[in-house]
Amino acid sequence: MSSPTSTPIAFRTAIVPAAGLGTRFLPTTKAVPKELLPVVDTPGIELVAAEAAEAGAQRLIIVTSPDKGAVADYFTPQPELERTLEERGKDALLEKVRRAPGLLSAETATQEQALGLGHAVGCAEPNLTDADDAVAVLLPDDLVLPTGVLRRMAEVRARHGGSVLCAFDVPREQISAYGVFDVTDTDDEDVKQVRGMVEKPAPEQAPSTFAAAGRYLLDRAVFDALRRIEPGAGGELQLTDAVALLISEGHPVHVVVHRGGRHDLGNPGGFLKAAVDFALKDPEYGPDLRSWLVERIAENDGVS
Ligand code: UTP
Repeated sequence: MSSPTSTPIAFRTAIVPAAGLGTRFLPTTKAVPKELLPVVDTPGIELVAAEAAEAGAQRLIIVTSPDKGAVADYFTPQPELERTLEERGKDALLEKVRRAPGLLSAETATQEQALGLGHAVGCAEPNLTDADDAVAVLLPDDLVLPTGVLRRMAEVRARHGGSVLCAFDVPREQISAYGVFDVTDTDDEDVKQVRGMVEKPAPEQAPSTFAAAGRYLLDRAVFDALRRIEPGAGGELQLTDAVALLISEGHPVHVVVHRGGRHDLGNPGGFLKAAVDFALKDPEYGPDLRSWLVERIAENDGVS
């Protein structure tokens, strides 16, 4: 057991499912995996890999499909490119090129067909070791900001056991866009025990205003549950169905309510907001973008 002052290491392995079809980003995703689209200059998958490493993960299992090899390539060292940059004295670029492969030890698992998020997570099971009592799952198209929620989730697992998910408190009128938790309170205002989940409820029928986010700290029991659930619409195995099965069997599941921001990189509109948000904070591009945006918006307002 860890001492009360130290942050428990609840997981060493992070799984990043990246084998989806990315249909909302067609036609680009005919050839380019959406996980590699750059938020300014860095793909979303590197941002979540950095988040996993910061939370203490040592291994990253990227679940990819046979035609998305570029995602794995991105985490492979590129000695020739590095040599060229070194010779040209491009130190800042060299550092950027080395960052993803240096974050943590990355490996891949293959999902032959996009049969759902639950199925994708299940594909990573053969990569686990006996030491993996729990795994973190991070969706690469969901940026949860500021980072740090995984550590909070690890603390909650150390205290309550079982699995821990992440939620945002969203305005009730927006709740029908999300998976929504049915919860009971604990003695911590930002930690709730989960009784169930409802997908995209009407606002008046939503059991709470706590919407699911793409961060999971899952007890290894989830893999057994994934084998016992039935596929839903489109033949897909849903991760939330496996979690629901665990809850029905008495497995403790809690959520940490994250009081921060979020970007959905999974669709062009959300992706653009993330890119603008990150670019505005970028010392190189921010100032110019800001004045250009102000001008552009004023022009547009004049036209309307
Ligand atoms: P999404 O539903 O956001 O991704 O899944 P998608 O299916 O690729 O996108 P759309 O809906 O067609 O536009 C969340 C994450 O889970 C992965 C995706 O790659 C994404 O990172 N995923 C989804 C898989 O790895 N396998 C699947 O079968 C489904």
